[in-house]
Amino acid sequence: MKKLLITRKFPEQFVAPLREVAHVVEWTEIETAMPRDKFLAEAAEAEVIWSTLEDKIDEELLMHAPKLQMVANLAVGYNNLAISTIKERGIIATNTPNVLTNATADLAFGLLIATARRLVESADYLRAGKWKNWSPMLLTGMEVSGSTLGIIGMGRIGSAVARRAKGFDMQVLYHNRNRKYEDEEMYGFQYRALDELLAESDFVMVLTPYTSETHHLISAPQLKQMKESAIFINVSRGGIVDEHALYEALKNGDIWAAGLDVFQEEPVSLDHPLLTLPNVVALPHIASASVKARHAMLATNLEALLTFLADDKPKNRLT
Ligand code: GLV
Ligand code: GLV
Repeated sequence: MKKLLITRKFPEQFVAPLREVAHVVEWTEIETAMPRDKFLAEAAEAEVIWSTLEDKIDEELLMHAPKLQMVANLAVGYNNLAISTIKERGIIATNTPNVLTNATADLAFGLLIATARRLVESADYLRAGKWKNWSPMLLTGMEVSGSTLGIIGMGRIGSAVARRAKGFDMQVLYHNRNRKYEDEEMYGFQYRALDELLAESDFVMVLTPYTSETHHLISAPQLKQMKESAIFINVSRGGIVDEHALYEALKNGDIWAAGLDVFQEEPVSLDHPLLTLPNVVALPHIASASVKARHAMLATNLEALLTFLADDKPKNRLT
């Protein structure tokens, strides 16, 4: 039997079928991930790895894993995988697209509303005993309905967010490597060059994959191009944004607020400057965290693993 290394404690119903067909070595603590040194050591004999977006399957790990044949990654994003080396070595990698699209789009839109209407700040205000009276301009935010949403990265999730925005009578602008003519025709989404999108949007949301090309795609010059009333939302990967530049823009009033589900370093450190700002809504990378989506992601990986272990070709292959 092949050795299958699982870097987390996953719900047993998604692991049990694998115990029949592989030699499963897993991390057993729910609250923590397998420490890096243990991951490197256990990888030595592993033919298969089931990882999460936090586990770096980088050049170092791959050097420690000479027998590796397959990686199943519990995420749609795969910037944690050294994908070109994985491909060169003939290792199969799979991910979990589609099943998390709705959950992620729901959260993205929820975070947009929460940031625009200051939901977290308002809830804290109430619990802190500060609510003394109804006051006309108390805790006022930006109106979502009828405003303009600019989406950078119009893939499956971007398109799902844009369709939600139509229900709020928003004008949807998008920037993407490829034009989405069908979406333009069917829903009226409009393509813009990046600088036009930044200048015209009330909400700027990034939903592009994180690659060397999108590293710090949003930096000081891009933040300067946004409206002073603009709200920036990131539910993709923290590295797409220069966090220092974002902090400066939020502090100086170059933009109005930000909603962030992702950070350059995760978990984000509690003394991170962005967390000192009242106009930042910060979440712990939960965009796909509905029970339905997470179960479907686990089931997607499980199916790929079982298929591979039965010497067949798994679906959702990245390589
Ligand atoms: C989550 O961030 C994912 O890539 O699935
Ligand atoms: C507010 O509660 C209103 O009734 O306008």
